[in-house]
Amino acid sequence: MTDIPSQTESALAAIAAADSLDALEAERLETLGKKGWVSLALKTLGGMTPEERSAAAPAIQSARARVAEALDMKKAALEAAALAEQLARETIDLTLPAPAAPRGSVHPVSQVMDELAEIFAELGFAVATGPEIEDDWHNFTALNMDETHPARAMHDTFYFGHNQRNAAGGQMLLRTHTSPVQIRAMIDQGAPIRIIAPGRVYRSDSDATHTPMFHQVEGLVIDKGIHLGHLKWTLETFFKAFFEREDIVLRLRPSYFPFTEPSVEVDVGYSNEGGRRVVGGHGDAPGHAWMEIGGSGMVNARVLEFAGLDPKEWQGFAFGLGIDRIAMLKYGMNDLRAFFDGDPRWLAHYGFSPFDQPTLSAGVGARA
Ligand code: PHE
Repeated sequence: MTDIPSQTESALAAIAAADSLDALEAERLETLGKKGWVSLALKTLGGMTPEERSAAAPAIQSARARVAEALDMKKAALEAAALAEQLARETIDLTLPAPAAPRGSVHPVSQVMDELAEIFAELGFAVATGPEIEDDWHNFTALNMDETHPARAMHDTFYFGHNQRNAAGGQMLLRTHTSPVQIRAMIDQGAPIRIIAPGRVYRSDSDATHTPMFHQVEGLVIDKGIHLGHLKWTLETFFKAFFEREDIVLRLRPSYFPFTEPSVEVDVGYSNEGGRRVVGGHGDAPGHAWMEIGGSGMVNARVLEFAGLDPKEWQGFAFGLGIDRIAMLKYGMNDLRAFFDGDPRWLAHYGFSPFDQPTLSAGVGARA
């Protein structure tokens, strides 16, 4: 038989010296494992006489208890040390610089809206807004398009359900143009007035140059003695500042809108340079042509009356321009649909730095 006390002492020493959980497990197998000497010693008790057993058992039992306790304690100590080591190793260094991450950009439509606000502010215009979910009175009726007016059908309007009406009984719709903001501004502010109203408008229409949602800017001036000359000067002055060139030539072409009388369509002279339309020059000059960029006219007397102004006292002009259209002309995109795809590559290419605030002194279109 083996000498239990000395075997126990050397097992305890080995357990104390174990420097890893693997070494400790090896020691456990050698002692308490199925074939470990403690287990084998315990088995010998079965074949002993009661006297032999009561003589041998206490030493074996105590050896088992001491070894088991030593194993448990050493295991806990090794695990705690391993955790402490892991915690010390796995640190996050918050002093590292931020990793290169994709950054947002200002959408060309937003940038152009800021440019518009900046240029027109210099001319004394304030920015007005109105709801995109409008009622048919503001979008049509007050703009001299009663329910039977054929122009209503031409707007490809998105209507809400027929029973979705506002308190005044108005049929709700997505505004088809920014012109209802004219009505709201006149009713809210009275005259005189000088506003632009940039915003989203909606028509059921979709191809390379039309999207169901697009952007317009409305302009409205109401005062005394206003005439078409003021309109032409205002648009010309705006386009010169916007395109940052002096050779802008506008052509006013007689047209029809229910809410203006007389009405004119605004064309701008341009030429083709490298497959790209470049604004500038007289549209009738060699290599040049005219491009329509908006509608305008003198505010119809009936519209003034709808908005509560006396047409004998007040006159004015209004215009509507497509923001996406003038953004494409200025910054050279050719597919309108890409404006609204949200493709990060397009945005990275055509977007603007948030630090690139348009100012007249620094150039409304300067890229940082
Ligand atoms: N609202 C018109 C449109 O969307 C444009 C316009 C505005 C025409 C103001 C005249 C005056 O087509």
